[in-house]
Amino acid sequence: MKHSLDPKKIKEANIKYHNEFESRIYRDRHLQFLDEEEVEEVKEKLFCIRGKAEKIQGKLLDIGTGIGRILLCLNKGKVIENGFGCDISLGMLSVCQQNARQLGINPSIACTDLDYLPYKKHIFDFIIGGAILHHMPDPLMTLKEVSRIIKPGGEVVFWGEPSRTGHFIVGKIILFLPKAFYRLGKMFVKDQGSKTWSEEDVDVHRFSQRELKEIFLKGGFSNIQITSSGFLRSIWQQFFAPLQGRIIRGDKTLKFIKKVERWLERVDLGIMSRIFPHWIFTEIRIHATK
Ligand SMILES: C[S@@+](CC[C@H](N)C(=O)[O-])C[C@H]1O[C@@H](n2cnc3c(N)ncnc32)[C@H](O)[C@@H]1O
Repeated sequence: MKHSLDPKKIKEANIKYHNEFESRIYRDRHLQFLDEEEVEEVKEKLFCIRGKAEKIQGKLLDIGTGIGRILLCLNKGKVIENGFGCDISLGMLSVCQQNARQLGINPSIACTDLDYLPYKKHIFDFIIGGAILHHMPDPLMTLKEVSRIIKPGGEVVFWGEPSRTGHFIVGKIILFLPKAFYRLGKMFVKDQGSKTWSEEDVDVHRFSQRELKEIFLKGGFSNIQITSSGFLRSIWQQFFAPLQGRIIRGDKTLKFIKKVERWLERVDLGIMSRIFPHWIFTEIRIHATK
């Protein structure tokens, strides 16, 4: 990790990066169309991680909600009734609000730092976070805050946390792909001249399953179940993601890339995970209770 881990700098970089860059192209870069297929995908992922396909009763909070993918899809898919979202980036939240309006949903959204949440203790039944802990300067501090606001017996689900070994392996494999194309992609991640931040300023952690388990235990959680996914899907994503919304445009092409991504995800979960050890996969997923 190259970072000084100065919490203030990391949070400032996150605000700047997500306000000025990600909020403009997040939908295309991460292929978040919020259509019916996506609603089903988010539901399936949640059910797979929880090990049950049940509606969530009570209040759910989506921390680091971004443009609202999880919150809005769970709402649209009728998995939740009472959904809240929060994020530190006003830019991301304003896209989230536009998305909510288009879907005819009116969730309660707050602009806040996850380490200092403006909620009373023990008020949420369920807390979910997609690709968020690795942006936090001190993930244990964040989990203690999550633990404060969730009810005893409440559930948490986190997904999209990067695995250190998985990313290392996929990074090496990517180097064998046609170099010119990959370099072009890299250019577009670090691009846009005047900006003073890059992805590396905001992606401050990679984890192992063991490290995450320890952090969740220290944060006050139990029944911790950790799984991994994302190998073939990840190679595909790393190849195209930097170009999406920049060079590769148009919903038709982007939806095709997404289709292949979904198919590779099935192969990863159904075949690859039975053959290979968990540490070759890039994404770590956690389910636990308070
Ligand atoms: C990779 S995005 C994930 C968005 C969404 N959860 C999803 O799955 O699409 C990470 C989000 O975390 C937010 N974030 C980063 N640091 C944060 C902090 N300290 N407090 C609250 N949100 C933060 C960013 O603004 C961004 O919207």
